[in-house]
Amino acid sequence: MGPIAVILQLLAVMSLTAAKDDGLVRTPPMGWMAWERFRCDVDCKDDPENCISEALFRDMADRLYEDGWKELGYEYVIIDDCWMSMERDKEGRLQPDPVRFPGGIAKLANYVHERGLKLGIYADMGTFTCMGFPGTTLDKIQIDAQTFASWGVDYLKFDGCSSNPLVQMLGYPLMSIALNATGRPIVYSCSWPAYLGGLPPFVNYNLMGEICHLWRNYYDIQDSWDSLQAIVDWFFNNQDEIQPAAGPGRWNDPDMLIIGNFGLSMDESRSQMALWAIMAAPLIMSTDLRHLDNGARAILQNKVAIAINQDPLGIQGRRLLKEKSRIEVYWRPLFQSASALVFLSRRTDMPYRYHTSLGKLHYEEGNYEAYDVFTGTTVKGLNSTTEITLSINPSGVVMWYVLPTTKAQSHHRHRNASPSSEETSRVQISQREIRTSHSL
Ligand code: GLA
Repeated sequence: MGPIAVILQLLAVMSLTAAKDDGLVRTPPMGWMAWERFRCDVDCKDDPENCISEALFRDMADRLYEDGWKELGYEYVIIDDCWMSMERDKEGRLQPDPVRFPGGIAKLANYVHERGLKLGIYADMGTFTCMGFPGTTLDKIQIDAQTFASWGVDYLKFDGCSSNPLVQMLGYPLMSIALNATGRPIVYSCSWPAYLGGLPPFVNYNLMGEICHLWRNYYDIQDSWDSLQAIVDWFFNNQDEIQPAAGPGRWNDPDMLIIGNFGLSMDESRSQMALWAIMAAPLIMSTDLRHLDNGARAILQNKVAIAINQDPLGIQGRRLLKEKSRIEVYWRPLFQSASALVFLSRRTDMPYRYHTSLGKLHYEEGNYEAYDVFTGTTVKGLNSTTEITLSINPSGVVMWYVLPTTKAQSHHRHRNASPSSEETSRVQISQREIRTSHSL
């Protein structure tokens, strides 16, 4: 059989072997990733604290384990680009840079696992990674999947530099098959859509959900509010195309959380946390957890924002409104008829007093209470016509967790799902969690 025939045959069995309905990441993955904050710093001689090395990942695993992150759900420690040696080994396997990872990846995976965490790694479907390290060409897919599994890797970020659409069309599904064939549960994060402009007809989101657990749709986040706003605009301008693609085990990925770095104010940091929760986005931090100020820590560890992000229905939220006043309203349905609202100000002058009501935001008649996620206050006795005035800071948000207080069939005219009985216990746990936070 020629190579094309082999590939066609593999693609034919793909729907049997590549389906990602495998119980992994039923809620968006949470963890830490090196790239946005530490990039491709390979200078361990002059910058030992920040270079891409096993010490950096051990340090971050320690922080996740010791500083309460793990209990909140942040569990993946993810190596990005620049971990590799420039050469494969004699058997054709990828190997880590021997100076910066002297213990090897298996030992690092062990260290991470001993702390109850999981290890992620990076590779590239192409000739070279984005930073010029060895890529995974089509003939190397199987051996790379096997190598990662043999090291105990739990998550693969598969990038798409120095490649082309044909190679990607073959390679991304083939890697999915190869990972499944290892027998090790490995979360598969595909950068594929980002290399195809992120939208149908070039991106087939049904296929994406079949073969990948999550996928990058758009450009890389940078450490700035401008970059963050460009991502938010793209995701919500295209919500009709991408929002239906998300669900348990299959997530759109607007890229890492940059909270704790240099580019965002405290208000902007809350905005990122709030919008990533609305988007059901992976919560992958990329910040120096060893030197994190308390403001950023409190935002990243906000239990209600996390519970909203991790809602078991897994319905990605939508933008409801873009007001002339440059206030935008975002909404996400949650289980047991709860919901989340985010009011974002794009203004640059002063806190804006926004007047609305739940009825204007399509809520049905009934009684509600709203928990303000970042101030910890509860607004009781709301109904759909109660006039609400919110003060929203420039580039900031007000985020509400809204609970119906009277029974009704449906509380939002846009509702499109309700929890299955299987999910009910998790619903109750999560709502208990939220109620606990109410009283904090
Ligand atoms: C691409 C990806 C980034 C990062 C870099 C590494 O740009 O989108 O997230 O992995 O490559 O080189």
